Amino acid sequence: MSTYTEVKKVTTHTLQKMKADGVKIAMITAYDFSFAKIFDHAGIDLILVGDSASNVMAGHETTLPITLDQMIYHAASVVRAVNRSFVVVDLPFGTYQSNSDIALASAIRIMKETGAHAIKLEGGEEVIESIKRIVGAGIPVMGHLGLTPQSIYKFGTYAVRANNNEEAAKLKTDIKLIEAAGCFAVVLEKIPATLAKEVSLMIQIPTIGIGAGNDCDGQVLVMHDLLGINTEFNPRFVRKYANLNEQITTAVQQYIVDVKRKDFPNLNESY
Ligand code: KIV
Repeated sequence: MSTYTEVKKVTTHTLQKMKADGVKIAMITAYDFSFAKIFDHAGIDLILVGDSASNVMAGHETTLPITLDQMIYHAASVVRAVNRSFVVVDLPFGTYQSNSDIALASAIRIMKETGAHAIKLEGGEEVIESIKRIVGAGIPVMGHLGLTPQSIYKFGTYAVRANNNEEAAKLKTDIKLIEAAGCFAVVLEKIPATLAKEVSLMIQIPTIGIGAGNDCDGQVLVMHDLLGINTEFNPRFVRKYANLNEQITTAVQQYIVDVKRKDFPNLNESY
């Protein structure tokens, strides 16, 4: 069975076929040219220029402060690095919630000014008109349900979502609505694995999980978590595949030592 690694360029059509064939989709966040280039060469299917840039790049406590201009800067840098991966860009808080005209204008700016392939936005029924308008303009839209970090002050906590009947029922209604509105995929963040499995079977578009168990059609992690750059964030859904924080610290400490003891640069490193 094909694992789709041979695909030269990932498209929404590829992702749909991967779901149909039961081939899992791998997604990672990126915010700059250099890391995006490594991830694309490594064979990642999807790159998300997430509004988590607000946390991991700018040091804000939440995703709320990042602006559309800042997201465009990150996304354009990522797109310049990519040959194969499909690049999705988050619409930041405040650029789509008020009405569908504003949502469409924000999505068009991202597509025109970055060269990205799709946008992502958070929410279900509340943003359905915006999803329809953006899809209607020919822009692929990825949904995002469950824990939606742009609503953190409404939730009050980053705890697991949809673990009661009422919220689970709303999530099921919302996922059907966003599929019908034309979303090509949906992120499911921090919901019970059983619910993620149930809704993944209910819909034809791929589900991409983060803290949503192993039965989603794909998985996404923030690059700083996966690579062990961020040591302060250790939720159970993160698997660290490297410890770059330690490696970078050791390398920089060695550089400092070498400079101080006049070992760097040596003759071969000088002109
Ligand atoms: O902004 C982000 O990185 C995200 C992922 C957590 C899915 O939305």
